[in-house]
Amino acid sequence: MSLVGHQITESEKIRQLVTQIVGDVGRLNEQITGVRPADPSFADRNKKMLEQIAVLRGRPLHYPFIGSGAGRGPYVELEDGSVKLDLINGIGIHLFGHSHPRVIGAALRGALSDIIVQGNLEPNREYIQFSEKLSKLAGRRSRLKHVWFATCGTMANENALKMARQKHSPARKIVAFKNAFAGRSTMMAEVTDNPAFKQGLPEYHEVLRIPFYDKKTPGSAEKTLAAFKEHVAGNEGDIACLAFEPMLGEGGYNAAPREFFVPMLEFAKEKKIAVWIDEVQTFCRTGELFAFETLDIGQYADLVTIAKTAQLGATLYTEEYNPKPGLIAGTFSGSTVSMTTGMEMIDMMVNDGYLGGEGRVARIHKRFIDGFNRLNETTCKGKVQDAGGMGLMIAFTPHDGAKEQADVFMKKLYHNGVIAFGCGKGPFRVRFLIPACIEDQDIDVALSIIEKTIQEGY
Ligand SMILES: Cc1ncc(COP(=O)(O)O)c(C=O)c1O
Repeated sequence: MSLVGHQITESEKIRQLVTQIVGDVGRLNEQITGVRPADPSFADRNKKMLEQIAVLRGRPLHYPFIGSGAGRGPYVELEDGSVKLDLINGIGIHLFGHSHPRVIGAALRGALSDIIVQGNLEPNREYIQFSEKLSKLAGRRSRLKHVWFATCGTMANENALKMARQKHSPARKIVAFKNAFAGRSTMMAEVTDNPAFKQGLPEYHEVLRIPFYDKKTPGSAEKTLAAFKEHVAGNEGDIACLAFEPMLGEGGYNAAPREFFVPMLEFAKEKKIAVWIDEVQTFCRTGELFAFETLDIGQYADLVTIAKTAQLGATLYTEEYNPKPGLIAGTFSGSTVSMTTGMEMIDMMVNDGYLGGEGRVARIHKRFIDGFNRLNETTCKGKVQDAGGMGLMIAFTPHDGAKEQADVFMKKLYHNGVIAFGCGKGPFRVRFLIPACIEDQDIDVALSIIEKTIQEGY
């Protein structure tokens, strides 16, 4: 006799029905073939929905974006009838774009479970399967062993910080980069270095800043190391962790080489300061599963946090940082659908040719960067500057990087059919979180819309 739960997941009849639904949905989505303008017949209803959101939230949406629930790869259909090329994907959630058949299939399988959201007290099998997958994959090139789920990146970060502080108690302080982003809880807003995100909040004076890598400044790595050493000397025994994004996300998408990180990490180890790598944005995006693999710094990691593409948050940690019972818990661990789809997408990344120097992620990166540089040198001279980033995270500086100009450009770009989002502050940059499923011809469509938008002027 097999358990009823296993009969559900293994039932041939249910498998066929799922395949049939995925096929039917896919056939409907085939109507979405590329960028198209809004349909005037939906204008009134769409306007009402936008006004309703603005009233309910107390402020309007950044873009007039309300998804219709349909899409195809990098293309998304909106309630106004338009189809956009979505190169921001919910700020990095939809790694395989919209309506990917394997993702829909995994979501349907997750939806058949007896519960919607799994809890830390009463988890189902998917909780174990996902934890095991993450632990095994992370453990290939690091000492990370344990996994604790959370509902978002911010909560995964909160858990990491608590583990670092408990282990090094009574040390309290955090060393973090200038322009870092870590989330918007009270404590993560403190780690985040952007005054606009914490207006009116008190300062806790628990974060010590060091500069991030600047390729244009000779001796940048030495300056950062010196600043770190100075903080440690002035706060002996009171620094719990070095917390960093492998590439600043909100801070501007400037990548740094391995040689920048290693001396800092060696020093952190020497001083028994926890190394916490925030991979909330970089996970699955840099050409390897973890950016610590791309940078080959996994041996230094004590704590790593992920979210976004994982479809839920998770803190990964080594044996030494396993906290005492009671420190981390919470009702929710994540929805069953988050777990089944998160696992499916990771399997696709690992097994379907996306990773490595010649993998699809590297090729997508190159095609975009080459395209941006070509525009900057030819038809859009000086207006697509400093194209760079890592893997599926790409940005350029429009004009001289003034905020107002960058904002107007992105709104026009949105109108013309490509969705991007800003990052950095001085220079303000235009960033793209590219879906891994994008085809070369769609990259060329994106480049030509960007070119057209720049040539129209803004
Ligand atoms: C590096 C980094 N850390 C933490 C967060 C916060 O994650 P969440 O918005 O899921 O709470 C983000 C979100 O953008 C991020 O990019």
